[in-house]
Amino acid sequence: MVDERIYTEDDVIRLRELIKPYLTEKRYAHTLAVEREAAYLGEIYLPEKVMKLRISALLHDITKMCVSEKQLQYCSEFGIIVDDYDILAPKTLHSKTAAALVGRDFPEFDDCEIVDGVRWHTTGRDGMSVFEAIIYLADYIEDTRTFPDCVELRRYFRGSLELGEDKYTVFYRTMVRSFDMTVRGLLDDGKLVCEDTVMARNYFVKMLMTSDRSM
Ligand SMILES: [Fe+2]
Repeated sequence: MVDERIYTEDDVIRLRELIKPYLTEKRYAHTLAVEREAAYLGEIYLPEKVMKLRISALLHDITKMCVSEKQLQYCSEFGIIVDDYDILAPKTLHSKTAAALVGRDFPEFDDCEIVDGVRWHTTGRDGMSVFEAIIYLADYIEDTRTFPDCVELRRYFRGSLELGEDKYTVFYRTMVRSFDMTVRGLLDDGKLVCEDTVMARNYFVKMLMTSDRSM
């Protein structure tokens, strides 16, 4: 069995430069903010994986700037199965294509957890790991986000922790709220709701229920 690769601060600093050609200036600033937020969340929930979380955050949006045609081209290139949802709601496709691109363009960072963090950062999924949830949440609440839902969720999360509530209860509740906000927005706009998002939402509701933590 091959030992898990240990990533260092130097790897993170180098990767910050490597991703620049894939992002606009604005998207790069967002990406660095997600890296900071993932590090902050990682210190609370997954301190032994902070470096890998930062790397996953840096890679999460590397195909976000690609138009739908390019996304679909990547899908056929990498053998990604495209379903109806991908065609009708192509906004979430970038998480699939970015995950696939890591192995080709950033092979030294091609680690299962890092790639899964990238893969599930947009929709979430049933049974998602704490690692995946951190990347998802970091993307949602990072400091440069000014969308009202993001500001509200950031305040809710940090405020609840400051009140000294159980950190896992706060985490699960924040995840449920984020999915609720996303689904509510999609319903209001008459758009499709991804099944993975519904499953992810229910997964965290179940986590709260089975841990006997009331909403
Ligand atoms: Fe993002």
